[in-house]
Amino acid sequence: MVKKSTMFVCQNCGAVYPKWQGKCDTCNEWNTIVEENVKSDGFSKLGSKKEGHIIDFVPLKGTAQTYSRLQTGIKEIDRVTGGGLVPGSVILVGGDPGIGKSTLLLQVCAGLAEKNNACYYISGEEAIDQVRIRANRLELADSPVNLASATDIRNIITTLEKTEAKEVIIDSIQTMYLDEVESTPGSVGQVRACAYELIKLAKKKGFVLFLVGHVTKQGEIAGPRVLEHMVDTVLYFEGERGHHFRILRAVKNRYGATDEIGVFEMQDKGLVEVENPSALFLAERQGNISGSCVFAGIEGSRPLLVEIQALVSPSGYSTPKRAVVGWDSNRLSMVLAVLEARCSMNFSAHDVYLNIAGGLKISEPAADLAVAMAVISSLTKKPLPADMVAFGEIGLSGEIRAVAQSNLRLKEAQKLGFSGAIIPPAFGKDKKEKGLKNYDLSCYEIGHVQRLINWFN
Ligand code: TYD
Ligand code: MG
Repeated sequence: MVKKSTMFVCQNCGAVYPKWQGKCDTCNEWNTIVEENVKSDGFSKLGSKKEGHIIDFVPLKGTAQTYSRLQTGIKEIDRVTGGGLVPGSVILVGGDPGIGKSTLLLQVCAGLAEKNNACYYISGEEAIDQVRIRANRLELADSPVNLASATDIRNIITTLEKTEAKEVIIDSIQTMYLDEVESTPGSVGQVRACAYELIKLAKKKGFVLFLVGHVTKQGEIAGPRVLEHMVDTVLYFEGERGHHFRILRAVKNRYGATDEIGVFEMQDKGLVEVENPSALFLAERQGNISGSCVFAGIEGSRPLLVEIQALVSPSGYSTPKRAVVGWDSNRLSMVLAVLEARCSMNFSAHDVYLNIAGGLKISEPAADLAVAMAVISSLTKKPLPADMVAFGEIGLSGEIRAVAQSNLRLKEAQKLGFSGAIIPPAFGKDKKEKGLKNYDLSCYEIGHVQRLINWFN
């Protein structure tokens, strides 16, 4: 007999409660708990008479299957996914509305279709005409992509069962629905049930499944974090409105490294790969101004030079303002506190603004030194030499600590024509990284923040 069961699910974090309550105890959000009905013909068989069967154990030692990956023809995507798409894998692509998810996936789809792979693009958001208009704009109208506009998962599954699909794109998972679940499309229950059915099919038939997921105001894939656990790879497509750069970032990857990024530029005719992102991010830099320092960073396996801009100005408020775009504001507070405590600088009467130029978000502690340089430069109104880069982590006692992959950072700086680098001292002593002497770059090793001041006298 079909029984109806009711549960109360938090739309923010997916926690389940037997009764309604105003506040979710798991994520502490208010008014996010919604009643969801599931028609169940006995989901939970535990406790029933039905017995399981014996599972087989095998030794850990053995040959593992190697994956033959599908190359999309878009190098940035292949790199982010760990060298191409693994058949049967499920990739969740999250991002703000309008950032370019549909554009990116249509380009991927067309790229694969042109190599004789059966590709299916199912849009639940746009009508066929809208997708065609986009394809025309991208000059991909002739690609042999199979296109449908549908939202009923039951129909989609039945159709895909009969195909030899190599790749399927669902744009977006929040628009799909399964009639068994009585809540509205986009609710946690629906998203989870639809994703579950699609993932099961992808594993069974061995196609690559892309799920597009919207992002909430908090910057998480809408509603269900649970979705992130169900899929093999989670990619975030980010970028600032008003900037043309788009970053595709792997935050989870069962088949490759995380933190890998792909850089794209949104142009008139779609997303174009950026081969040399450092040059792009530094393109609009003005030389010889105070408050600017170039940071030699690493994103994934790739070096990336970005300009860090600081503005320190007298404050009109009793509590001075600290505003950060693209970096961690707690880390800025820490760097300022260290400069105050160890270098006798005083920021208490100053507002401090920090910006990573180009709309990039960086999270490396290695940016500490470059941030400190930019802040001091703005406070003293003395510019740093324009051809210098900096990297290094700052400790609470003011010491400057070594960071990973220094050689790669320096190599990139040299490639882009920089002639000097301010770096942590341990670097020179690190025997593994002796390749340094081959560079034309002059490296200035600084052990303590107190010595930074010398650069501005
Ligand atoms: P879209 O892929 O629809 O975003 P999403 O699926 O993430 O919501 O991209 C929409 C934006 O991209 C839209 O503002 C227009 C812009 N765009 C271009 O600049 N160039 C292009 O070639 C295309 C197709 C879109
Ligand atoms: Mg879209």
